[in-house]
Amino acid sequence: MKVVYFAVVAAAMTAATCPAMAADADAGQAAFNAKGCVGCHGVAGSSPIPANPPNPALNGKGADYIKQALTDYKSGAKQNATMNAMAGLLSDEDIDNVAAYLGAQE
Ligand code: HEC
Repeated sequence: MKVVYFAVVAAAMTAATCPAMAADADAGQAAFNAKGCVGCHGVAGSSPIPANPPNPALNGKGADYIKQALTDYKSGAKQNATMNAMAGLLSDEDIDNVAAYLGAQE
């Protein structure tokens, strides 16, 4: 029963703290690197790897723009096969965090 108890407490704590937590830019950086975004958009989104069509730079665009773009790719409101797949790897929390991270890159 101890395991169940801890699971319930952990879930309750997560539910209680998450909505109040600000987006986490460090977690966003980790996700950006771990999910492979860095491979096309470059370090901190500022040195995109050339491709045809080109991968856009992501720095200097602001967190709101990045969040909207990723939300639209994830939902399919914005169509791009690569980015629809990549945004699909991100939870809503990941999107907030990645937007906070990239939004802080000049
Ligand atoms: C295989 C290469 C590739 C990977 C990997 C990739 N992207 Fe992209 N990304 C692109 C391309 C190409 C576009 C332009 C798509 C378009 O024209 O709509 C783009 C567009 C974007 C945009 C919108 C930029 C703008 O100026 O509107 C954002 C934000 C973005 N990517 C974030 C990410 C994130 C976050 C990840 C990781 C989860 C990621 N990308 C992974 C190639 C990639």
